[in-house]
Amino acid sequence: MAELEKYHWLHGIDEYLTRTNHIHSSKYQTIQKAVQYGEPWPIRDMVLQLIKDGNNESSEEFTNIILAHHLTELELTNEQVLRFIIRYVDDGFLLDTYAWIQKYENRADLNDHFSRGQIKSKLWMMEELRNVVSGNSLGTVVLYGGWYATISHFFFKFFTPTRLYSIDSDETTVDVADSFNTRQAANDWQFKAFAHDVNDISYNSEGKFTLPTDTKMGTTQISVKPTVIVNTSCEHMNDDWFHNLPDGQFVALQTNDYFSNEQHINCVKDVNEALDKYKFSEVYFSGELQTHLYKRFMIIGIK
Ligand SMILES: C[S@@+](CC[C@H](N)C(=O)[O-])C[C@H]1O[C@@H](n2cnc3c(N)ncnc32)[C@H](O)[C@@H]1O
Repeated sequence: MAELEKYHWLHGIDEYLTRTNHIHSSKYQTIQKAVQYGEPWPIRDMVLQLIKDGNNESSEEFTNIILAHHLTELELTNEQVLRFIIRYVDDGFLLDTYAWIQKYENRADLNDHFSRGQIKSKLWMMEELRNVVSGNSLGTVVLYGGWYATISHFFFKFFTPTRLYSIDSDETTVDVADSFNTRQAANDWQFKAFAHDVNDISYNSEGKFTLPTDTKMGTTQISVKPTVIVNTSCEHMNDDWFHNLPDGQFVALQTNDYFSNEQHINCVKDVNEALDKYKFSEVYFSGELQTHLYKRFMIIGIK
């Protein structure tokens, strides 16, 4: 495999399976070592596995994948590699991701969404929220700058939100996000994405705001009182969204010190700067997480 980096999303999947103690995580690591690093013993183990599975219409493709590191002239797609993985790793997140990239191969860049840093920081939020929230119920979760809302899967895995709404100013994210969360969207819109600038959201005196209309849902205007506002895209926007939240709102946010990324207009140098910028009346958790390229900062608390 000429471009190792092309498949660096494999590290994110490893992070996810290891951190969640997945039953097939060691099988996955054997696959990763074979495909990504071309290690001989894992290749042998996977070849034996294929022999055991018997000859079928996927045998040639799967053999190529196992040997991909050495068959450098082969161009494998992420879809092919993931199809091979889900043959041996039984997991809803991976199945949903596979269905999603089949539909949006050009949009859904696995290296963007499932890098080790991305997965690590999203699971970090789940782990710290677990320490803060008692029980599984999380009420209505609203993602600000939710992008393709791949984090929703973790909310549905670790908690039981009544509803999860994702709001992003880029309208092209809506269908992609709905598609990633298709099972929850089909469940009476337990999940729904919307296009809107979160800096323009205003709340009434009862702490409610009205969701933008979306033709797929019909024309009814839905008024919501979020249990928790989640914003893992703070570095992409100014702070108006936070100032416009009602006092007493439960918030979980992440930002970072990745100043050199040209899309980042609002980074901070450390967690203290984040705490100065976003004034919480009560902080349940604040901390830093080192990822490969930058540090992530997280604050969970009451505005
Ligand atoms: C590219 S993502 C980065 C995600 C983030 N670093 C993470 O890991 O979750 C940032 C998203 O914020 C969205 N965004 C930026 N400004 C926004 C605003 N004012 N209102 C809603 N969405 C916004 C962008 O459209 C984009 O989809």
